[in-house]
Amino acid sequence: MADNQPFQPFQLDRSRYPGLTRMADTLRAKHRFAADIVDRGAALFGAPWADEFEPVLNALFPTEEAVAAACKGYASFAMQSMRLQAAFERDRAYKAKTHEQASSEVYFNEEHMMQEYLPGLLLSHFLWPHHYRQLQFFDSAFVQAMRVAGARSFMEVGIGTGLYSGLLLRKLPGITGVGLDISPSSQRFTETQLGALGVADRYRTELRDVTAEPLEPKADWLVCVEVLEHLDDPVAFLRGLRRNMAPGAKAFITAALNAAHADHIYLYRNGDEVLAHLLEAGFTLEQSFIGSAYKPSAAGVPVPEAAAFVVF
Ligand SMILES: C[S@@+](CC[C@H](N)C(=O)[O-])C[C@H]1O[C@@H](n2cnc3c(N)ncnc32)[C@H](O)[C@@H]1O
Repeated sequence: MADNQPFQPFQLDRSRYPGLTRMADTLRAKHRFAADIVDRGAALFGAPWADEFEPVLNALFPTEEAVAAACKGYASFAMQSMRLQAAFERDRAYKAKTHEQASSEVYFNEEHMMQEYLPGLLLSHFLWPHHYRQLQFFDSAFVQAMRVAGARSFMEVGIGTGLYSGLLLRKLPGITGVGLDISPSSQRFTETQLGALGVADRYRTELRDVTAEPLEPKADWLVCVEVLEHLDDPVAFLRGLRRNMAPGAKAFITAALNAAHADHIYLYRNGDEVLAHLLEAGFTLEQSFIGSAYKPSAAGVPVPEAAAFVVF
């Protein structure tokens, strides 16, 4: 394209992206605070974003009713985050809570998990720019390395929505995976998604705390996305991850920074604090990524960030 051509943002073609179109229409009609969030994602990230998002949406929310319920769940999830973030901006601390309290309020609360938390989190992986940029980093820094190395298997800890496991299974056709979580709802949501995407035969899940006895065989490639900030003692958890890794294994580990949520307990203020925990647990850094959710409203106001690390 010649340099003087005006930039044409990518626009969703309704017939090519029926799931995304349905979601955009629902958000516009019923959840005004998110009226243009799909169009913004499309304009910012283009066709690769839409091509990745569309099959996940169709797998999990194949009907108009399912899309409407997912949008409602996303709206509650996002509004709750916004309310808690406003309190965090004022107090500069997360509301005090233990992992045990978060577990009973959130991870073992089936209705909340299936109706709000998991659909909300899943949509946020694509709709929140820092979450999607983290996925792009995952693809370029980790999935590509797995492809080049001919990876045969992986382990994900804290599967939540199952999105990262699903992407690996789809992008690396020969690979098999195991997913661990403590929440039966996360297990069910993940299994539903992977079944609908046609990759469940290469994956199994286990309800398991990774700090307990290590699983055999150990992982050559390990993924753990947005779990550290949910814990009382992230270093003990990281040591548990290491015990589940084979010699020479690589891991993709992330944490949310300055991001208030009902189940965020450990406050990381910057990427260096996460890196210090990784080093303390015995990891070595290969590369890292930090992405911000939005511009701060004023100098010094904390903004949610995603911090991701490739370590060995
Ligand atoms: C924010 S979600 C993780 C996001 C998920 N990786 C995704 O991509 O959607 C947090 C998950 O960590 C799980 N979790 C919390 N504490 C855990 C622990 N000690 N061991 C394993 N999973 C845990 C929760 O049940 C929940 O499913």
